[in-house]
Amino acid sequence: MRTKIAAGNWKMNGLSHSLDQLSELAKSQTSAECAVVICPPSPLLFSAVEMTHSSSIDIGAQDCHTAQSGAHTGDISAPMVKDTGAKYVIVGHSERRENYGETDKDVCAKAIAARDAGLIAILCIGESLSDRETGKTLDIIGAQLAASVPEGATADTLVIAYEPIWAIGTGKVPTLAQIVEVHDFIRAELNTCFGAEIGNGISLLYGGSVKASNAAEIFTAENVDGALVGGASLKAVDFLPIVDALSAS
Ligand code: PGA
Repeated sequence: MRTKIAAGNWKMNGLSHSLDQLSELAKSQTSAECAVVICPPSPLLFSAVEMTHSSSIDIGAQDCHTAQSGAHTGDISAPMVKDTGAKYVIVGHSERRENYGETDKDVCAKAIAARDAGLIAILCIGESLSDRETGKTLDIIGAQLAASVPEGATADTLVIAYEPIWAIGTGKVPTLAQIVEVHDFIRAELNTCFGAEIGNGISLLYGGSVKASNAAEIFTAENVDGALVGGASLKAVDFLPIVDALSAS
């Protein structure tokens, strides 16, 4: 009943020739039983949408501003993302939180801007290594959810990605039990906040060093509805087995 989603976040990687990877992906995944979303850097959004037009791949941006327009040099707004034909936008990635000081309040405002523009926000939350080591993971996740998920969120406007910061780009992956604990906790929090009908409909993605070799095990968790993948989404040959593992789960 929930949408399964294999999402790729290219981060600040990709030139126009990288779109070849997208056409590879489009050719190979016509039978995927899950949504496939690629979030390239913003200069590639229009071309990426055009290129995947006749496939089932959806395109997303990696960030948006809270405002619709204005004097914000270098930023892109949610209506601009929507205008490219993209369907999703990542908000609150830990690299944005860390590099640009984005707070939960900012992330909430971005998720609202995304919703108002007709986009689905992929909202990222996750604990640091010291939070994990001092046993604060669920407190941190609970606080991030409370402060960054907009009121009135539904499956049509929101996807949540749990990405432990210490697992991003490090090759370190939490144990399945640790992933299950956090995802079950997020599900319970959403159900308490929005009621079971809405809470059970929101897709929860795991992110952090997902690759072909660990995807199938991660997807066995009941409340893992897919993955947000960085490094292993850059090449179709690495990403396709993750899509296949999710389709088969
Ligand atoms: P990674 O990145 O798969 O390279 O660890 C995940 C992410 O940051 O979304």
